[in-house]
Amino acid sequence: MREGSPHAPVRLTDYQPPAYLLDTVDLHFQLDPGRTRVRAEMALRPNPAAGEPGAPLVLHGQELELLRLELDGEPLTRAVYSVDAERLVIPEVPDGAFTVVVETATRPEANTALEGLYTSGGKLCTQCEPEGFRRITYFPDRPDVLARYTVTLEADRASYPVLLANGNRVAAGEGEEGRHWVRWEDPFPKPSYLFALVAGDLTCCTDRFTTASGREVDLHLYTEAHNADRGDHALASLKQAMRWDEEAYGREYDLDLYQVVAVDDFNMGAMENKGLNLFNSQFVLARPDTATDADYTNIQAVVGHEYFHNWTGNRITCRDWFQLSLKEGLTVFREQQFAAAMGSEAVARIDSVDRLRGAQFPEDAGPTAHPVRPSEYVEINNFYTPTVYEKGAEVVRMLHNALGPEGFRAGCDRYFERFDGQAVTVEDFLTALEEANDRDLRQFRRWYTQAGTPQLEVRSSFDAEAGTFDLCVRQHTPATPGQPAKEPVPIPLALGLVGADGHDLPMQLEGEEAAIHGSRVLLLRYEEERFRFTGLTEEPVPSLLRGFSAPAEVDYPYSDAELAHLAGHDSDLFNRWEAGQRLARTHLLAQADAVRSGGEARLPGPLHQAISRLLEAPADDAALMARALTLPDEGQLAEYMETIDPDALHAAREAARTGLARELREGWWSLREQFRDAGPYRFEPEAVGRRALANTALGYLMAEPDEAAREACMEQFREADNMTDQLAALRALAASDIPERQEALEAFYERWQDDPLVVDKWLAIQAASPLPGGVERVQALMDHPAFSLTNPNKVRAVIGAFAMRNPVQFHRPDGAGYRLLADLVLELDGRNPQIAARLVKPLTRWRRFVPEREAAMHAELERLRERAGSPDVGEMVDRALG
Ligand code: ARG
Ligand code: ZN
Repeated sequence: MREGSPHAPVRLTDYQPPAYLLDTVDLHFQLDPGRTRVRAEMALRPNPAAGEPGAPLVLHGQELELLRLELDGEPLTRAVYSVDAERLVIPEVPDGAFTVVVETATRPEANTALEGLYTSGGKLCTQCEPEGFRRITYFPDRPDVLARYTVTLEADRASYPVLLANGNRVAAGEGEEGRHWVRWEDPFPKPSYLFALVAGDLTCCTDRFTTASGREVDLHLYTEAHNADRGDHALASLKQAMRWDEEAYGREYDLDLYQVVAVDDFNMGAMENKGLNLFNSQFVLARPDTATDADYTNIQAVVGHEYFHNWTGNRITCRDWFQLSLKEGLTVFREQQFAAAMGSEAVARIDSVDRLRGAQFPEDAGPTAHPVRPSEYVEINNFYTPTVYEKGAEVVRMLHNALGPEGFRAGCDRYFERFDGQAVTVEDFLTALEEANDRDLRQFRRWYTQAGTPQLEVRSSFDAEAGTFDLCVRQHTPATPGQPAKEPVPIPLALGLVGADGHDLPMQLEGEEAAIHGSRVLLLRYEEERFRFTGLTEEPVPSLLRGFSAPAEVDYPYSDAELAHLAGHDSDLFNRWEAGQRLARTHLLAQADAVRSGGEARLPGPLHQAISRLLEAPADDAALMARALTLPDEGQLAEYMETIDPDALHAAREAARTGLARELREGWWSLREQFRDAGPYRFEPEAVGRRALANTALGYLMAEPDEAAREACMEQFREADNMTDQLAALRALAASDIPERQEALEAFYERWQDDPLVVDKWLAIQAASPLPGGVERVQALMDHPAFSLTNPNKVRAVIGAFAMRNPVQFHRPDGAGYRLLADLVLELDGRNPQIAARLVKPLTRWRRFVPEREAAMHAELERLRERAGSPDVGEMVDRALG
């Protein structure tokens, strides 16, 4: 039962600058997994900008044992300060500069929340963003307090031979009784959330990078000894990222050392601590036989992401956590540009839009919808969301497109120059862009303050006689919690007019002097706008929102023939893919409706034709073709269903898949033969595309497997020399009710049981299998020795995969899936509230489902409201019940 009143929200409008500034911090750690002692010496002074002379000194602190407190060298007694579960307050401090020394103890081994200082394997490590530093010592733990850190780490030499912190290693020495120490100094002022330390028995893979201006940077990647052969790809990615940031943004690295450490127990993906990035091992370790192409791609992106934070996040940081998207949206956008530059632009765009639609659109349409810059929160950890990250990146992309590459770059240059070393706001970023471009982005700010996905209703009419084509565009953003009425947002609508021969027709708006060839962008500002294109001799097919030029949903009454035309010819590769997906979606939803009204799902003719046309056409870009051949998943289809019926959707999609398998069997075989890669594994776009396409074909062959398909799949499973092909085979087998299924799953475990990251894949594949008995399967997996509730990757592999990627089993009619999830949330609530709160997400859209599911989900949310204790889970549940 939750105690007392619900936790009070923090509001953006309540922001106050810090009363005291911190110039330097000297930290001394006596590291021990059972009990670590920390001495912090802080040089403080009143903040002239705060205008609060004589204000009390407030330090944050959680789960700390306070051993000693000194002010200007004098010990303080309980009579002159107060301390509770959240903060330590010294009501009276000297007028000018003063020094505070705090000595505390923390218990790393008992820290199951994985925030602050904790243990992972035999290591000690930290995660401080956003508010973990307060679990290390009493401190002004807010991002607008920047200080220079000196850190001395002292530990047992045998257990912790490697001692790492931010910045440069400046001294080291021996202590008593087998202990040793290392001192680190970070010359750059930073907020506490960027602090990090690592202690452990680690192997270092090294590399080197010479910056554009000729400075040598040592690159150190630390892993456990047995993983030392899995660091090459991350190091190569790091060098690519460093070079790319110099070329694309003129940004160089600023320290002589860049350290990356792989950690097995990690709540999130990775963390950009200054000069000492910590990574979930999943996003750093790779070897061809253990990591898939998707892993290699993710590693490249995440390594880039954390590196890019050095400028967008670290050198310039956030004033408060409401500004989170200032660093995350911008950095995800930079990461996406980097990914596009390292591979195929169209494929990178398709994959990021797919992620946006898969996670952010549903969030924006549900009870946890919030603006890119939220205005209040109870627990900031609940706001590391697809909206802040992915939609935030889309907003930056629109700015990039609106200002053009040069204008955007000029704006960024100004931002870096003007705010380097400061903690700033989204507003500051926009002002820099405005000033550098002499532009007014006032209306654009709505993208940061208004939640919800704009719906674009587009209608057209063609006048053959006059040669005109009219477009009427209406925008509407649905209401979201706390925001019943919405203002129009500026929407850059990139479009083309496609002619009967498949080429773009020249576009000339009424009143314009000349026509534009190819794509153009119409900037929409009002609720409704009309455009008249002139000089047309044929009725065009409009290709709308090319490249997904805004995070909006387009409604246009395309016919099947028009969609097929775009899917075959659109000069915009993204929209070529999009047209095919739209065609598939329309027909799959119609089938799902048929099932709901008692009919039987079958393969829709137009979908059959579209896919067989794709199979006949020459595939010059294999990666793109693989995506075009893949049907939209059930989760995404659900978003377009009036009332979500997971069974009907599953039946519709399966009927289409098995139908395509049956009707086009020859095509799948020859596609697979043509694209199977023979040579040794290489991670390059070409080879990645070939594997994706060959495995898409295998997936169809196994949708309705005959003897030959089963044999081929087993052979691929056994013989593959890389994890991409092996796992594709295993995934297909695990989703089929055939005897080979068990055989393969057992063999895979036998082979990889000592490799936690590979075991995660084995767990996830089974948890995501749509075969009946999903709940029981998940229960068995949780009882398996390979599972552990304390490791977030294991929880995500089993429960994440089940609740988010297995709709038909998770939404089982009797509600057993929901019950299992809620039980787990309650079990994790007291140990790791951050992970527990994330697991509530799949229940939040209960109102959208058919009545019996709606009621069952609602009941579980009520149970959580009753029983959960953490503010993290409490806030998610309260919002979900709204
Ligand atoms: N700044 C990190 C990144 O996106 C994410 C850290 C989030 N951590 C957390 N506990 N919420 O690169
Ligand atoms: Zn980030």
